[in-house]
Amino acid sequence: KSRKYLIAGNWKMNKNASEGVELTEDIVSQLGNETSVGVVICPPFTALESVGKAINESNIQLGAQNMNPEASGAYTGEVSAEMLRSLFVTHVILGHSERRALFAEDDAFINKKVLAALANNLKPILCVGETLEEREAEKTIDIVSGQVRKGLEGVTADQAENLVIAYEPVWAIGTGKTATPEMAQEVHKAIRSVLAELVGEEKADKIRILYGGSMKPENADELLAQPDIDGGLIGGAALVARSFVGIVEAAA
Ligand code: G3H
Repeated sequence: KSRKYLIAGNWKMNKNASEGVELTEDIVSQLGNETSVGVVICPPFTALESVGKAINESNIQLGAQNMNPEASGAYTGEVSAEMLRSLFVTHVILGHSERRALFAEDDAFINKKVLAALANNLKPILCVGETLEEREAEKTIDIVSGQVRKGLEGVTADQAENLVIAYEPVWAIGTGKTATPEMAQEVHKAIRSVLAELVGEEKADKIRILYGGSMKPENADELLAQPDIDGGLIGGAALVARSFVGIVEAAA
């Protein structure tokens, strides 16, 4: 594959600062000098600074799980792109299905975040995915293509190299149910063709499209073998150093 694999761990609302450091140290020591795969870990905001220090000289990069699109001001409880940058964060997960479902984030708001992240030199990991109901109604490709189009409105071809997309079927998140490699590949391929429409084929070929949803060392190989699957966004398995590193090893 011409694209370098990227494995990102989304810790969600787990691990305080010291627990985060402990997990990071475990990951760092098990990972050794692996450089053929990009690795990002995304702890909660409160652990970003200490986890950032624990990452130290390793090749792991730091990601956040959310961000507000505004630069500063009266937005109680929110965190800006510049605040993340000041902690050496390089990536930010945007539009995760939990934020869409539990915190009512819509495509327009997510699009503002994507644009703000790019403008501040953060790499957005834009999450898209259909619910079980939408899959059963055979709306998967429509839903996902729409989320990609709306999420990326106004993104220029020049910014494309900093984009990461994560396809996460909502019914596969934290449920132990994984999309079959073929099901995932079909959607990844459709996403890449939408990207080609938006930024041109050459740029679209360079954008990493991650799969997320109950990915673990046991199923990583066959998912990652698909032509348009360029890595994973890992939830549960990212909280266990051995599993997370096992997935990185599957990508190496
Ligand atoms: O962001 C990660 C995904 O929501 C996947 O979570 O690996 O626990 O299914 P999971």
